[in-house]
Amino acid sequence: MPESILVTGGAGYVGSHVVVALVRAGYAPVVLDNYANSTPAVLPRLHALAGYAIPAVHVDVRDADALRGVFRDHPITAVIHCAGLKAVGESQARPLAYYDVNVGGAMALAQVMGEAGVATLVFSSSASVYGEPEALPIDEAAPLQPHSVYGRTKRIVEDFLCDLAGANANWRIALLRYFNPAGAHVSGTLGEAARGRPNNLVPLLCKIAAGELANLTVYGNDWPTADGTGVRDYLHVEDLAEGHIAALRHLAGVRGALAINLGAGRGHSVLEVVAAFERACGRRIARTIAPRRPGDVAASYADATRAAQLLHWRTTRDLDAICADAWRWQQQGGRY
Ligand code: UD1
Repeated sequence: MPESILVTGGAGYVGSHVVVALVRAGYAPVVLDNYANSTPAVLPRLHALAGYAIPAVHVDVRDADALRGVFRDHPITAVIHCAGLKAVGESQARPLAYYDVNVGGAMALAQVMGEAGVATLVFSSSASVYGEPEALPIDEAAPLQPHSVYGRTKRIVEDFLCDLAGANANWRIALLRYFNPAGAHVSGTLGEAARGRPNNLVPLLCKIAAGELANLTVYGNDWPTADGTGVRDYLHVEDLAEGHIAALRHLAGVRGALAINLGAGRGHSVLEVVAAFERACGRRIARTIAPRRPGDVAASYADATRAAQLLHWRTTRDLDAICADAWRWQQQGGRY
């Protein structure tokens, strides 16, 4: 019998790719989502990729009673917790919503997992917990100084989960600090379906290349980087999804809570990403230079040594694959 793994936020951008990776690795995922920032229209796509109808429940992760029902109905052995709000700008304007969903959701989930005797948890954290890096590459011992409400909710959940593991040695928890997830499933059938105007670079390039948005605004060409534009650690969302499987396997042999960076371990500048995207789509991306975006940093990229050593995981898809797959998703509609 394949193990049942609950994926909260399983209809979302990262969660949907995790679901497909779980099936490929021989697990039986159960999708949980409230569709606040996703849609059930992803489910037929997941079914087509999996070759069977993956069970899905329409539940809000803050609803402990509904969660209890999910654990009664399915023989869940572990949880991958991807559900949460993730827009940095919005988090500054709506702190209550971000604390409620991100912190309250993790607390309700941990409560019900404890009652059900399920102690294995993979948590979607973020490199935004680091804030402005004091040194590059960023390793897991770097200070946690998040700039945003969003990043603080991730740090608080990390602290909460470490406290749980400190109080009860049964817990097996991985805190996965994502760098910049980008790209789409290689089939072009799963991807990021942003509501409204995207905030992140690669989804913006998709819309610009497709003619849905005008030119790219490059936020600063006076950063202390090789070409003056911001440098980030972009990792393919399928690599990221496989990192969750590797973490799940690792947790079978260890107890406690541990933070692990998931990144490619190298950075690319905005102009490098634009050039790679132009190669992928065969079109020119018009761009204008604007002042720096408030809250941005010059460069951020991971020291991914811990993931390589403990999880035997590293990225295998490069920036060209990220752009090619994002463009394929866009050309197939770029939405559900
Ligand atoms: C952002 C979030 C981060 C979150 C991540 C999720 C901020 C400050 N940080 O990271 O917390 O974890 O998304 O993927 O919002 N750029 C432009 N023009 C644009 C958009 C972006 O030049 O129109 C540049 C940015 O200045 C940056 C790079 O592209 O150098 C990547 O930006 P983005 O995709 O928004 O990611 P981050 O800001 O790194």
